[in-house]
Amino acid sequence: MTLPKTRLTEALGCRYPIIQTAMGWVSDANLVIATTNAGGFGFLAGATIDAADLEGEIERVISSTGGSNFGLNFHMFQENAQQCVDLAIKYRLKAVSYGRGPDKETISRFKEAGVLCIPTVGALKHAVKAIELGADMITIQGAEGGGHTGGVPSTILLPQVLDAVSVPVIAAGGYSTG
Ligand SMILES: Cc1cc2nc3c(=O)[nH]c(=O)nc-3n(C[C@H](O)[C@H](O)[C@H](O)COP(=O)(O)O)c2cc1C
Repeated sequence: MTLPKTRLTEALGCRYPIIQTAMGWVSDANLVIATTNAGGFGFLAGATIDAADLEGEIERVISSTGGSNFGLNFHMFQENAQQCVDLAIKYRLKAVSYGRGPDKETISRFKEAGVLCIPTVGALKHAVKAIELGADMITIQGAEGGGHTGGVPSTILLPQVLDAVSVPVIAAGGYSTG
């Protein structure tokens, strides 16, 4: 399958504009390695990987894919949030994703390290706020993605956010075909 080069593939350095999301207890190093090697962009599920194992999982992806072209997902409310921030910067991962996100200062640290900030939002106002804080891209997740980011359907949220921001927008929440 040939897919076009997009702002997303150029920014993330992957072959296909397809993101393998962070799924708790699913998106471990094995999945991220497979995604990266297949040309997509993978996120490690930092919210559920044991703190003691996290650095090892990151190193495993780096050694099996030859670089840091993948991301780490975490939320600021988790106990080891600071560890996630520090490891993403230490290993210069290509991106971080999050729901409850870091403050402006932490986002500046990511930006200085070249780590792209890609929050997941379920409402227009959260997208606007995320951009104010420095997000490089936005993932919209409509209610069809399980509803835990809110009740706005993907088909409404996507055009709302596309109209409001100029950064690349990644669509999630119930999509099953191109
Ligand atoms: C099994 C499973 C686990 C998930 N765990 C996380 C998680 O740890 N962190 C997170 O930000 N999102 C998590 N999500 C949400 C996904 O990142 C994504 O936003 C959602 O799957 C989008 O909906 P779609 O798969 O219908 O496109 C999870 C989704 C699934 C299906």
